[in-house]
Amino acid sequence: MKLFSSVHDVDDINALVKEALTLKQHPFSNSHLGKNKTIALVFMNPSLRTRISTQKAAQNLGMNAMVLNIDKEGWALELQDGAVMNGTTVEHIREAAAVMGEYADIIGLRSFPGLVDRELDYSEDIFNKFVKYCGVPVVSLESATRHPLQSLADLVTIEELKTKARPKVVLTWAPHVKALPQAVPNSFAEWMCRADVDFTIAHPKGYELNPEFTHGATIVHDQETALQDADFIYVKNWSAYEPYGKVLGNFEDWLLTNERLKITNDAKVMHCLPVRRNVELSDEILDGPNSAVVHEAGNRVWAAQAVLKRMLEELD
Ligand code: CP
Repeated sequence: MKLFSSVHDVDDINALVKEALTLKQHPFSNSHLGKNKTIALVFMNPSLRTRISTQKAAQNLGMNAMVLNIDKEGWALELQDGAVMNGTTVEHIREAAAVMGEYADIIGLRSFPGLVDRELDYSEDIFNKFVKYCGVPVVSLESATRHPLQSLADLVTIEELKTKARPKVVLTWAPHVKALPQAVPNSFAEWMCRADVDFTIAHPKGYELNPEFTHGATIVHDQETALQDADFIYVKNWSAYEPYGKVLGNFEDWLLTNERLKITNDAKVMHCLPVRRNVELSDEILDGPNSAVVHEAGNRVWAAQAVLKRMLEELD
């Protein structure tokens, strides 16, 4: 594997999930693979889970891991080709990515969307330029439109916790005070559409995701209908795709409660974290027996390790 940016980079998602679960049982079984190899984890935006879990995964494989918070610690990056750099930007992505490729065998990159220009965000301009110029395998640590390491960890979690062969999984929109990217729900949707699950998306009218990611899902605008007999509930806020990046209303009645859990099949509640308590998810759910959010975050290590293992196996 030379690139991990979406579910489309994976031939067999079930085999990758199985690999992650095997690594969870035997974390150091492949520690020879990363000997004398280096991964650079480059962050243009904040992170807790992705940063530490990927670093740990790399270390379990015997790799050296370098972290660069390039937004704070690097030179101000220019992204436009042909730019006359007589303003605030100091280094072009062409040189920055190429130089990092000299130092690292694999690069991980986090680059959030601007949520202003939909065409630009959905073209994955920054991520794709980085891939083009760095010259080494790249793993997405969340890009403008997708968060594949999160989605793989989510699928690993569902595989571990499911009590039936084909569980009902519901992705439900939740309220928030800020406009958030669509990367997590987009990515979760496209992974669930490939997985062997019964998948429903619930959101208020107006919060439709880009259909490119939701093809194959059942989409409803009533949370209660969606939650009926659910085995897993994936809670997440996202801003509108149309009008792009906008918050359309509070819809506070979409905050998941214990009362609403009663109509589910004792559903496990998932969230990628970080979560704003009592805005996006209630205390009673997060602190209750159905919450799987910390377990899910723990699985980020094994998802990252499975992906890095595949990349290391194919390094020249
Ligand atoms: N879920 C997730 O990606 O968390 P971080 O933003 O903290 O990495």
